[in-house]
Amino acid sequence: MDKLLISGGAQLQGSVSASGAKNAALPILAATLLASAPVTLTNVPRLRDITTTLELLRRLGADLSRENAADGSTQIVAQPTPLTNFAAPYELVKTMRASILVLGPLVARYGKADVSLPGGCAIGARPVTVHLDGLRALGADISVDGGYIRARAERLRGTRLVMEMVSVTGTENLLMAAVLAQGETVIENAAREPEIVDLADFLTTLGAKISGAGTAQIQIQGVNQLGGGTHRVMPDRIETGTFLVAAAMTGGRVRVTQTCPDCLDAVLRKLRDAGAVITTGADWIELDMQGQRPRAVDIHTAPHPAFPTDMQAQFCALNAIADGVGTVTEAIFENRFMHVPELQRMGADIRVEGNIAICRGIKQLTAAPVMATDLRASAGLVLAGLVATGETLIDRVYHLDRGYDNIEAKLRGLGAQIQRVK
Ligand code: EPZ
Repeated sequence: MDKLLISGGAQLQGSVSASGAKNAALPILAATLLASAPVTLTNVPRLRDITTTLELLRRLGADLSRENAADGSTQIVAQPTPLTNFAAPYELVKTMRASILVLGPLVARYGKADVSLPGGCAIGARPVTVHLDGLRALGADISVDGGYIRARAERLRGTRLVMEMVSVTGTENLLMAAVLAQGETVIENAAREPEIVDLADFLTTLGAKISGAGTAQIQIQGVNQLGGGTHRVMPDRIETGTFLVAAAMTGGRVRVTQTCPDCLDAVLRKLRDAGAVITTGADWIELDMQGQRPRAVDIHTAPHPAFPTDMQAQFCALNAIADGVGTVTEAIFENRFMHVPELQRMGADIRVEGNIAICRGIKQLTAAPVMATDLRASAGLVLAGLVATGETLIDRVYHLDRGYDNIEAKLRGLGAQIQRVK
């Protein structure tokens, strides 16, 4: 099992490019099931979750090939082919909850799907009620039996869906289901994440008729068939934010290129509050900390465009060494502070009360052997290791590999002392 060994203290300097967004690539890969003509996806990140998704789609009978591109990303070509299987088995779904994203496309195009309930994960119970309620409203017959969602439908019929709560993959599943439904669908209380806009752009390229993606109300006019096309996956805003926090914590100056400056407003605002000087261009963001120690900031996670929960652990790490007391309120997931006990092992003065972490910044963390528990918690531990005195050894970095494409090489390129050890 791989580990990361980090010697803290380097001030990060230089330029790093963002990879394609994991949370855009996953729904877009599922959406290739809807295409009746060849699809080419570019800027697909090299991640474990992408590999898992390809394996799942191939199990269904899909014909997908992946090849390396010159810029270090990968390109995926999906050839239309009749599916031979409509089941997403538990042994795959339990390794990646986002497997639930094949449900909408399978029901919309083939009228059947047997998808394992994703089950909880480290950060929470993560039910999929809004996914199932929406598909029922579109006319699917949904039953849950033996841990499996069994969905059957003739042709789905468009309708007005009011989502009981804001759900990113819930919105994505229902959007993918509605594009082939008969008539118009309106999704109210839709999630507004940029990754949903990217999915809608991809579906539109295939011939779908969608308006309002990125707002709380999405209108879809169902069509009978979708074609094919080419789509470049949007940049990963969470990877981008993670590198910017690394620069802020180490007092350095880092430019993230090939990214999306306008999809991280809430994060940039908090980094400026922490004392960073931030400039942006068409596809880059530069953070200059001018050698200063960050000031503590208060964070409250909420659906986009508010502060993203996927950046919460990174800001706990920043607050751990910041000047002052910062509170971090996690309002999306019920158990997303597992990085806190690990940060405490490094000397952080953080107290968790319910869904609020009160972080009293200290000048210096101390290296310790720590363990990653979930994707973004592990990112927070890497950031802490970058500033801790001594050598931090992070175990179970397979969590990190799910969502970060070659993070140690990218951080080494910025001057960090980090290496992967077996
Ligand atoms: C997506 O998860 C992301 N995953 C998550 O990123 C991200 O943290 C999350 O959105 C919130 O932004 C992908 O896009 C693949 P939700 P998702 O449905 O869709 C509750 C990462 O690190 N809920 O928006 O599963 C749910 O339990 C991952 O890349 C219900 O109660 O999140 C959670 O508390 C982690 N019932 C909240 O809503 C439902 O039917 C938001 O969940 C659906 C959701």
